[in-house]
Order: sequence, then C-alpha cells, then structure tokens
Amino acid sequence: MGGQTIFLSAQDSQLGRGEPIIDTARVLERMVHGAIIRTFAQKDVEDFAAIAKIPTVNALTDGEHPCQVLTDIFTFEEKRGSIKGKKVAFIGDAACNIAQSWVYAAPYFDFQLCLATPKEYESPATNKHVTQVRDPAEAAKSADLIYTDTWISMGMEAEAEKRGRDFVGYQVNREIVKLARPDVMVEHLLPAYRGKEITEEILEEFAHDIFDQAENKVHVQKGILHWLVET
Ligand code: NVA
Repeated sequence: MGGQTIFLSAQDSQLGRGEPIIDTARVLERMVHGAIIRTFAQKDVEDFAAIAKIPTVNALTDGEHPCQVLTDIFTFEEKRGSIKGKKVAFIGDAACNIAQSWVYAAPYFDFQLCLATPKEYESPATNKHVTQVRDPAEAAKSADLIYTDTWISMGMEAEAEKRGRDFVGYQVNREIVKLARPDVMVEHLLPAYRGKEITEEILEEFAHDIFDQAENKVHVQKGILHWLVET
C-alpha cells in the first residue's frame, strides 16, 4: 500500500520505562499516521485512542479482538453470502475477547449469535441478537456458522488446568457439526488445539476455509487501514 511500518515493543518505547500511555499517544501522533496496538488491557487502547488524533486500531486486547471478527465475517460472506439473518454458534469461552467482539458485531451485521458456555464463562456483554446457553448442541442446531477459540486465552495460562476441566463437552466435533445446517461453515482463528476445543477430524475437514480465514486477516486489515488512514 506504499506505507511504512514501525514495530515497537513496550521495551522499544518509553512505555517500557513507565511512561503513561496517554503521553506515548501524544508523542506518536506527531510521528505516524495511525497506530495498531496489541496488548492486554483494553483500557490502554481506549486511553490511547481517546487522546491521540490519529486512527487507533485494536489488534487484540483481553477485552476485544475486532479485526479478527471482521475477518471471520468477511470469510463467511466471501464463501456463503451475506451473514444477515444467519445463525452463528460460538462454542467455548464466551467471556474471551473473541466472543465479546462477536457480541458487538451481531447488531451491526444483523445475525443471531448463540454462545454455548459454562455459567462461569458467560459473556459480560450482550444485546438482543445474542443468546447464551449451556448446551453446545442447542447452539449448533441449524447453525450456519460454528465458531470456536482456544479455552485458554493469552494471559489465562495459570488457569489452564481448571479450564481444561471446565470446558470438557464444549468441543466442536462430528456430533456437534451434524446438528448444524448441511452447508455449515466451521471457523477457527488459530492456533487450534486438536482434541480440546476442536477435533482433528473437523479441523482437517474445514481446513480449506480455516486457512483462507487466516489469509484473509491480511486483506481485511489492509482494508481497515485504507479506510482509516486514506479516506
Ligand atoms: N482468545 C484468544 C485469541 C487469540 C488470537 C486469546 O486471547 O488468546
């Protein structure tokens, strides 16, 4: 696209020395045309965006992962047509960043989202397009898209053992996929943990779509940058 990128880890900038992010934002806005931030705290991105006069893109936080979900929706629409009116089943950790972004996307794109998750992992956000259920079979029934993510998101590693127990039964497998519409698409944002949130068999059966989904991150994020910086 003719631009240049600078990669800054926390250690490469004054953030690593304790500079408040609102100060980093006010320096960087004088040097670059946009910022893409991948970090843990959602608040950091919001604080940066609130003060910086340049476009700020959330490239993953503990709260949201909007670029990924835009890519997931793009991939569905590229292969199946409009997602409007369709049923999306999310099976797994409904409190994770990905599930939150699916919740926020549902009213914009006008699809129904059914989150199947244990009580303790319910999504804190919801709206009239979203239902939360315990039973993955209920979510998968007549679904147009089945979606899953790791049970152990970044930063949750200390809970790995507990989560491994809590999410037993929340796996995308043959029995679950059989309940969906015959032309169902299965998406996974990767990395996939075979035998945990998805079986090897289902991952491989839908690998063509899943790896197109991975590639589409490049195209969709170029689109986001173009929209934000050049228009
Ligand atoms: N929910 C996952 C997404 C990985 C891109 C995580 O936060 O680790």
